[in-house]
Amino acid sequence: MNYLHNKTILITGASKGIGRATALELARHQVNLGLVARSGEELQALQQEVLQLGSACEVFAGSVADESLAQKAVAKMQDRFGRVDILINNAGYGNSKPFETFSEQEWDELYATNVKGTFLFSKAVAPGMKQQQSGHIIIIASDVAKRTFPTGALYCSSKFAQHAFGDAIRKELRPYHVKVSTVYSGLVDSQFHAEPQGDNSHSWWLKNEDMARSIVFIANQPAHVVIDEFMIHPLEQDY
Ligand SMILES: NC(=O)c1ccc[n+]([C@@H]2O[C@H](COP(=O)([O-])OP(=O)(O)OC[C@H]3O[C@@H](n4cnc5c(N)ncnc54)[C@H](OP(=O)(O)O)[C@@H]3O)[C@@H](O)[C@H]2O)c1
Repeated sequence: MNYLHNKTILITGASKGIGRATALELARHQVNLGLVARSGEELQALQQEVLQLGSACEVFAGSVADESLAQKAVAKMQDRFGRVDILINNAGYGNSKPFETFSEQEWDELYATNVKGTFLFSKAVAPGMKQQQSGHIIIIASDVAKRTFPTGALYCSSKFAQHAFGDAIRKELRPYHVKVSTVYSGLVDSQFHAEPQGDNSHSWWLKNEDMARSIVFIANQPAHVVIDEFMIHPLEQDY
């Protein structure tokens, strides 16, 4: 069953990795996509692929830490398609080293993308979703939103913050029939890591397409079903 047909979906961090694969998987369901990332050329190339798959597509180049971009993207999607049905808060990056070696700027930049970006885009879609009494916010956190590792203080704490933010807005938005889902994943072979995507050391990791299929599964549920939390790992990764 395709519950996604004609739905309007905004994805942050769509130019690469999990977000890009999710955009392509969603495009096969005849949807209206809004794609956000800083790399405008990569977004434009992806837009052409989405159009060829039969879905409509707008692109928005800029940082998720910029509130005016969030407001502009949501307004444009509402103007062209009448509403935003689903927001996928996916943009994010990691950084791993002894915590005392992080600069104040590194802290601020990582929190601006991983935490503030999730806040700004959720804030931008919430009024419309409350008014239409339906909607779905999906947050791509990480399994390190529930566990930590040495040298991960900055990244793990930003993911714990996304987890807490999702938990709180789930309670706020449920009375308006707006769903909130948080995804906790283990290792994914994307451009996130120090080694390039496809590196031999990633051979047993999740693929971007595994994540895309999971995110589409979470999104493609009937109106009365919500997947609140979704934990996924490569079978060979301990959890
Ligand atoms: N890979 C893993 O093992 C793993 C595991 C668990 C969770 N995650 C989470 O999954 C999400 C996606 O990561 P990925 O693995 O797909 O990494 P990726 O391949 O590096 O892709 C990250 C995406 O986020 C975008 N992005 C980064 N900063 C941004 C900003 N300030 N504004 C707008 N877009 C921004 C990037 O686009 P531009 O550079 O063009 O802006 C890119 O499209 C992240 O939240 C990450 O924490 C990843």
